[in-house]
Amino acid sequence: MINELKEKLEKINNLADFNQLKVIYLGKKGLINQQMANMKNLSSEEKKEFGAKVNEQKKACEALFSAKEKEIHKDMVDKLVKDETIDVTMPGYKFNNGTIHPLNQTIIDLENLFIGLGYSIAEGPEIETDEYCFEKLNLPKGHPARDMQDTFYINPELLLRSQTSPVQVRTMLAKEGKPIQIICPGKTYRRDADDATHSHQFMQCEGLVLGKKITLADLKGALLVMARKILGPDMKIRLRPSYFPFTEPSVEVDVSCHKCGGKGCSMCKNTGWIEVLGAGMVNHHVLEMCGYDPNEIQGFAFGIGIERITMLKYGIEDIRNFYSNDLRFLKQFKEAK
Ligand code: PHE
Repeated sequence: MINELKEKLEKINNLADFNQLKVIYLGKKGLINQQMANMKNLSSEEKKEFGAKVNEQKKACEALFSAKEKEIHKDMVDKLVKDETIDVTMPGYKFNNGTIHPLNQTIIDLENLFIGLGYSIAEGPEIETDEYCFEKLNLPKGHPARDMQDTFYINPELLLRSQTSPVQVRTMLAKEGKPIQIICPGKTYRRDADDATHSHQFMQCEGLVLGKKITLADLKGALLVMARKILGPDMKIRLRPSYFPFTEPSVEVDVSCHKCGGKGCSMCKNTGWIEVLGAGMVNHHVLEMCGYDPNEIQGFAFGIGIERITMLKYGIEDIRNFYSNDLRFLKQFKEAK
């Protein structure tokens, strides 16, 4: 019996088979107990001898099972350790990182550039008062130039800012007549029907520099540096007379068309130039309304269209791409940077 058990145990290599065999030998109705049951028909002399024998067999069985159980457990632990070993030389998982949105990238580029020129970054609320967005910018109620910007009004005094220029007002009121050198990138809103070149929500980057003897030449210099840094070292700029109620004189600023290099193409409507921003010398009425003495301090302001220059930089033809969250569009800028 013992030899037979030894053979059977040798063939076993898992816990389930082991348990099954253990029941056959040592279970309640197992082989050992069956032999015990046979004892009842024997004489007491025979019982003693037979009982001792069966007991011996039982002990031998138990010893064999316990040794085998230890062996099986050891194998299991060995296997577990082997399976769970970490291979530190295996290549890691590739994370699918996002990328900076092209509009944010332009803002980062503008901020880095202007901070390098000594500007600081100003902020203002997107829900603005009529007073700061228009009145203090020399646009009283009923002024015809208000039609230049079709505005989302919340109530007669509150609106979604249609330009970042109210941040000029806020900064001047806070600085109380002292020199200023700021830019303010941010969201703006107008009641435009969305199409390839218009979006009801868009972004501007306002600039304001006030100090003694600041001239239009300083404005031109700052904008030329900006165009060359953001759009390319060969950029030229051109200033055209224009009108904004809060600047006098006012200019519209074009950059040379990078697609055709100024020869004329569909992108620049055959003019060789593309308009990117409005600017001018801060109107003396605005300076006065915001607590500055125009005889002491003057300066310039500009408002860059962030989408506009981003479209130019990357050759994007539809402004709606910026706001549609299409990954096929956004993924391109991983390498484009
Ligand atoms: N705020 C003007 C616009 O949105 C742009 C501008 C800013 C013009 C500053 C002059 C000075 O059209």
